Amino acid sequence: MEKKLIILGVGVVAVLILIVAVPLGVMFWPLKPTFIDRCKELNGYDCETWWGAFEQAYVGKDPRKVHMEDYDNFIKAVNFSAEPNKLMFWSKTKDVVHAFTKKKKDCFLTVEDTALGYMLDGLMSWCGKEGCTKTFRKIGCPGWKENNAVGSFWNRVSAAFADAARGDVTAMLNGDIDTPFNPNSTFATIEVKRFDSPKVKSLTVVLVTGKSAVTNCKNASLKDLQRELKKGIAYNCKEVTEAQLEECSSNPERPCGACW
Ligand SMILES: *[C@@H]1O[C@H](CO)[C@@H](O)[C@H](O)[C@H]1NC(C)=O
Ligand SMILES: *[C@@H]1O[C@H](CO)[C@@H](O)[C@H](O)[C@H]1NC(C)=O
Ligand SMILES: *[C@@H]1O[C@H](CO)[C@@H](O)[C@H](O)[C@H]1NC(C)=O
Repeated sequence: MEKKLIILGVGVVAVLILIVAVPLGVMFWPLKPTFIDRCKELNGYDCETWWGAFEQAYVGKDPRKVHMEDYDNFIKAVNFSAEPNKLMFWSKTKDVVHAFTKKKKDCFLTVEDTALGYMLDGLMSWCGKEGCTKTFRKIGCPGWKENNAVGSFWNRVSAAFADAARGDVTAMLNGDIDTPFNPNSTFATIEVKRFDSPKVKSLTVVLVTGKSAVTNCKNASLKDLQRELKKGIAYNCKEVTEAQLEECSSNPERPCGACW
């Protein structure tokens, strides 16, 4: 009996340590080692140069005054390009789209699957401080508002990703919410506006529904999306369930694009 209680006690303490330590790790873990490790996984790039170009965007600056353009040198250093027809955009479908592209990486790439976003994916808060050469995490960094180091990074990287789009592009949007094409999303404010005709030939919206489909391809917000596209870019919309995506992506025989 006593032994059981001790084991239970140890278990509770371990869980409490995890609950406290994981968020603290996210906040204080230095950014550079993770950046460099992930960059090395990609093979053959000059990771120190990339880090230098990345860091100079925000280091030594007021953390509320970091603009998209401040990351231009990082974008130049990465010099991203992609094969046509592979780019996958998304909005409010983060988990579903990444589960999908992980299994279908020869077919589709999200920005987080490429050198543009891979190093910083999921790392949350970072920023600099005036008169200081350090990178800070979380504490002292402003929240997700305009012109902070994190938001401006993702905006700049999303712009570069959209600029690289060629041929047929795909966007996975969420059919479980009221407005799948939200005019405030990064997809609407940055990416769609940069699809260039005739380099981009078509956009296929894959509208994914899970347990509670709220809307479909007829939704008015998707008509707005269609109107936003430059002349000459064809538009399609396909409704699919998460279960269909899951089933299809688990089948390696299925050709690219055969999941909708
Ligand atoms: C950038 O990439 C393109 C295409 O892959 C290549 O032709 C060009 O030389 C690269 N530029 C630099 C500065 O590395
Ligand atoms: C977009 O942002 C504005 C201003 O913050 C807000 O009023 C509006 O409801 C948002 N639209 C959607 C569809 O979320
Ligand atoms: C569809 O789009 C419109 C306009 O963007 C939105 O206001 C509406 O609530 C949406 N959803 C449904 C389920 O009709």
